[in-house]
Amino acid sequence: MLEKIEKLKEEISGVIAGSLEEVEQLRIKYLSKKGSISALMADFRNVPAEQKKEVGQKVNELKTMVTEKIAALRESFALNGDRELEELDLTRTETPMELGTRHPLSIVKNEILRIFEGMGFTIAEGPEIEDDWHVFESLNFAPDHPARDMQDTFFISRNPADILLRTHTSSVQTRVMEKTQPPIRIVCPGRVYRNEAISARAHCFFHQVEGLYIDKNVSFADLKQVLLGFARQMFGPETKIRLRPSYFPFTEPSAEMDISCDICGGKGCAFCKWTGWVEILGCGMVDPNVLKACGIDPEIYSGYAFGMGIERITNLKYKVKDLRMFSENDVRFLREFEAAN
Ligand code: PHE
Repeated sequence: MLEKIEKLKEEISGVIAGSLEEVEQLRIKYLSKKGSISALMADFRNVPAEQKKEVGQKVNELKTMVTEKIAALRESFALNGDRELEELDLTRTETPMELGTRHPLSIVKNEILRIFEGMGFTIAEGPEIEDDWHVFESLNFAPDHPARDMQDTFFISRNPADILLRTHTSSVQTRVMEKTQPPIRIVCPGRVYRNEAISARAHCFFHQVEGLYIDKNVSFADLKQVLLGFARQMFGPETKIRLRPSYFPFTEPSAEMDISCDICGGKGCAFCKWTGWVEILGCGMVDPNVLKACGIDPEIYSGYAFGMGIERITNLKYKVKDLRMFSENDVRFLREFEAAN
């Protein structure tokens, strides 16, 4: 009996299988009811009583050995299908992964932020789901102010507080000013929402970067100089800017800024509608009412703010004609920005 066990042990340690099917045959041969191990068990009756303990142990060892061997063989095939073991390429990466490219809006956002960081601004962010106070009220929009109509808002709830999707990143201004005393010098990137029909030129969400600087003796000339620096770094050293008077409830005076058209160099073309200029942002001196609402003394401090659309800047830089391209995630479009990554 002990001899038989030893023989089987030897046999099994040398066993190989070429396929899952062969593994199954081995299982039947050794472990099934009619297999060699069951046969040994049947013989066990005849083992003299004083040997029973030793033989019993050996049979159990053998059984464990066969079970493990078969499990190991099966596993090697489960991992590799039916292929021959030699076909395994052990040099292959475990999880082949193709790296994507950065989204064009992220590329441009990062570039905008980098330029302002170079001028001493730090980055601040705020929530996309906002309340009326941070988006409108604190920014000098009176409850019945017609300027509220300038932005079609997605409301989430009217009661108890007006909860809405922010229509501009100016809400981050308020959040920072409420918590911090000047000097404040921040840029706030983020997604904003407006209830507009989706077309090549408008979308119900887009991205902005807002800038805010509050300190003693900040003037409109400071604003102009920072924006000129930005325009030249973003669009090239020859870029000219012009400011046109405009209106925003939260700034006074307010302006819109144009840059010289970089396609025709200012001579006039279809892109700039024959004006030589393209509009890129809104800006102005922070209204004293806004400073007051946020707990900053307008007798001591003054400041400027500006806000731009990242899609708009990206369109100007990369001539993307249809805004919808930015949210469709067509990889053919995204791959075009590989070089800019
Ligand atoms: N918040 C304005 C908008 O969304 C842009 C702006 C920001 C204008 C700061 C002036 C100052 O259109």
